[in-house]
Order: sequence, then C-alpha cells, then structure tokens
Amino acid sequence: MPKKPTEKGMGKEDIKLQTPKGMRDLIGEEYYRYQGFFEKASEVAIYYGFQPIETPILESEGLFYHSVGAHTDIIEKELYTLRTKGGDRLALRPEGTAPIMRAYFEHGLQSQPQPVMLYYHGPFFRHDSPQKGRYRELRQFGLEVIGSSKSITDALVIRLVNTILTEAGLPDLTIEINSIGDRDCRPIWKRELVNYYRKHAKEICADCRERLKDNPLRLLDCKNPKCQTLKIAAPSVISYLCTGCKQHFKEVLECLEAMNITYTINNNLVRGLDYYSRTVFEISMAPAEGEADGLPLALAGGGRYDYLSRALGSKKQVPAVGVAIGADRVLAAPGVANLLPRLIKKPKIFFIQLGTEAKMKSLSIIEILRHTKTPIAHSLSKDSLSAQLGIAEKVNIPYAMILGQKEVIDNTVIIRDMRSRAQDVVKLDELANYLKTLKA
Ligand code: HAM
Repeated sequence: MPKKPTEKGMGKEDIKLQTPKGMRDLIGEEYYRYQGFFEKASEVAIYYGFQPIETPILESEGLFYHSVGAHTDIIEKELYTLRTKGGDRLALRPEGTAPIMRAYFEHGLQSQPQPVMLYYHGPFFRHDSPQKGRYRELRQFGLEVIGSSKSITDALVIRLVNTILTEAGLPDLTIEINSIGDRDCRPIWKRELVNYYRKHAKEICADCRERLKDNPLRLLDCKNPKCQTLKIAAPSVISYLCTGCKQHFKEVLECLEAMNITYTINNNLVRGLDYYSRTVFEISMAPAEGEADGLPLALAGGGRYDYLSRALGSKKQVPAVGVAIGADRVLAAPGVANLLPRLIKKPKIFFIQLGTEAKMKSLSIIEILRHTKTPIAHSLSKDSLSAQLGIAEKVNIPYAMILGQKEVIDNTVIIRDMRSRAQDVVKLDELANYLKTLKA
C-alpha cells in the first residue's frame, strides 16, 4: 500500500524540491524556445491544411497495449501506469498516435471529408533511463493524416517534417526510409527472419534472444556490436514485399524525388512501435564532432499505420500515416534557430507608482496599456521612487511611466525617456495616442 502523506516516511522532510528524474521545468528563455518552435511547426501545419487537436495526458492503459504493442520497450519497460481510486487503469500517454485514433472514432471524424489531418504538441512520458536526448517527460510535435492510403499522404508528412526541421535551422538532415510490408507479405518475411535468427541463436545478444521470441522485427534494430554482422546477411524485407507494397513504396520515393527531398533507403529500419505497416521513416542529424557515441539520435520518426484502427476495435480499416518530432532533441541540436513565439514582447515601459492612491489606480492604468498593446514591467510591491527607478535601470527598459499623488489628482502620468532623462506629462485620456508615438 502506498504511504499516505500523514504516514511516517511521507512527512515534510521527504519533500524534495526538485523535479522527478528525467523531467524538467521550462522557464524563461527555454520556455520561449519551446513555444516558438511549436508555433512555427503549427504554422507550417496550418498552411498545409492541418487542424489542431489536444488529447488528455492520461488515457486508458489498454489503448497503448493494443496499439503500440505489448512487447515493445515503450509498453514493457517504459509505460507509466496508475490505478485511480475508482479502479480505472490509466497510463500517462507515451505517444500521440493511438490517442488521436481513439479521438477520431470517439468524435465520429470518419463522417468528415477524408483524410482528416491533425496536428498536436505536448508532453509524453516514457520511463526510460534518462540520458542526453532521452527524457522521461519528452515533448513532441506530431502530424497525423487519417483516412487515406495514398502514397502522396506519406510524402506529405515527410515533406512537412522536413520543412519544419529546416525552418528550425537544422541543416544536414538524413531521411531514412523503408517499407515493412503489409499483412500479406510481412508474415512471410517475418518467418524467414525468425528462421534465420534461430539458426544463429547462440551468436546473438541476450536482448535479441528475447526479441526473437516476442518481437522479431526489432532484431534488425539491435545496436549491440555482437549482432551487427548477422544483421547484414539477414533476409531483407525488400525481397518479400508484395506487388501492392512495392508499388506504394515506389510511389512514395517518386514523390520525394519530385520534391527534391533526399532520402536513404534503410531496409533495417523497423521502428519501435507495433502499429506500422508499409512506409516507416526516421529523420536525424549527423552527430556533432567529438560526440562520443556515433549514432545520431532520431529527431523525428513516423510511418503508415493502416491497421491501427482495427487493433483498436473498429470494424472498418482506416488507413493513416503520421510523424512525431522530438522537440527536446530539436531544441538541443547544434545550430537550431531561436524561434521566438509571437506573444513574447519585450517590456517597453517600466511602470512606477508612488503612494497609496497611485497603487490603487495602477491596475486600471495597466489595463489602458494592455488595450494599446504596450508591454510593461513593474514592481507593484515596491513603494519608493529610487527602488523602482533602480529596477527600471537594471532591466534596461527604454521608458518609465510615473504615477505619483499629484498625477492621480490631475489624471496624468509622467513618461520619462530612460536614456535622455527627458520627461513629458501626459493626460490619461491622451495616453493611448501618446504611447503610439514612443519608439521601441
Ligand atoms: P517515436 O519514434 O517513438 O514515434 O518518437 C518520435 C520522436 O520523439 C523521436 O524521433 C524522438 O525525437 C522523440 N523521442 C522519443 N523518445 C524520446 C525520449 N525518451 N526523450 C526525448 N525525445 C524522445 C512516435 O512517438 C510515434 N507516435 C510517431 C508517429 C506519429 N507515427 C505515426 N504518427
């Protein structure tokens, strides 16, 4: 039984003033950098016809078992689960695709014109061992195109993620792409893969022996040096693709070529989630010079998930494709642009109030400034002129607005240019017009 806050071991002495391991506060400049990135990505998505969606942080645990897959790392090792007081089994969402497919059915989006194109961003949770580029609370920007099997939609999401990352200032992107077949051809390839690895079971690492039982496609994803030679000679998916899958893959590649998007085919790319079929892809950046581990971290990953709808209980198959970008990795990448959000405005005026009446009137004056869209800073808790002017000097704001007792009676304010020290007395009913004349 978990201890209650009143029980021994959960007293105040146990409060740790720090975020849980692998999670972070976003504050100041860093907050703005995330907000700026999400705004830029959303803007690109909106211009391509995507609509926003936000789903809850908590979902039923079963949703992820039946979509991401019970034998994937995300579910087996990394899922945060909880039981509510009412007995519901919920999970902190480890990814966004399954919740969005759930929302698609819950809100009857199949009756809208197809495909339904949605974008989203927010925090996701995976109980991984925290290290550089791997957090327990990660932030993603995602795109999902639901209701089309056409290869142009695969190319559309790849194009968009490429555009978003390029606009975020990231050069030298590598797009790796593969097709993992469909329910007709994949089982044949899978069987051959299992036969091959069974023959070499003694030569593979312990993790791969587990994968051989539970999730054989992930054998191709193993990074252990011991397993690399075997991988080279493993049955390649490309030889097993059926005519339909081959044609689909060919069309996706042709679309990319027509858009001058450079890609590399990687027949070992299988991705760590079970819901994929046909196209899978990952986008990464070459590691910075001197970085110890030579494997570039994926900035984004995605693919087609034509069977997810069925896995979630729908009678009808709804083909779909999507991608998610790891915002934490993008914003930590060398050379990433500082995309500032639209809402952030540097304060233009430092508002100084003197005396009880002025303090009482100050919030109404701030409201006038808000209506004129003049961003301000202030220190309403300070009383003396010198303390407030001191802060105004320190934070380097070009103008101070002073409201003293006399100004309260006269319905005026003093505007002081902090550089030249020149001052104007301005009537409150003329303040809005006067503010327009101030230079930033
Ligand atoms: P994913 O590959 O698991 O795909 O995650 C997408 C991206 O999220 C990764 O490429 C990486 O940049 C970032 N990411 C993943 N785990 C972490 C972590 N522990 N810490 C920091 N960043 C991380 C999905 O989530 C799929 N839902 C993508 C998708 C959308 N497929 C179809 N539609």
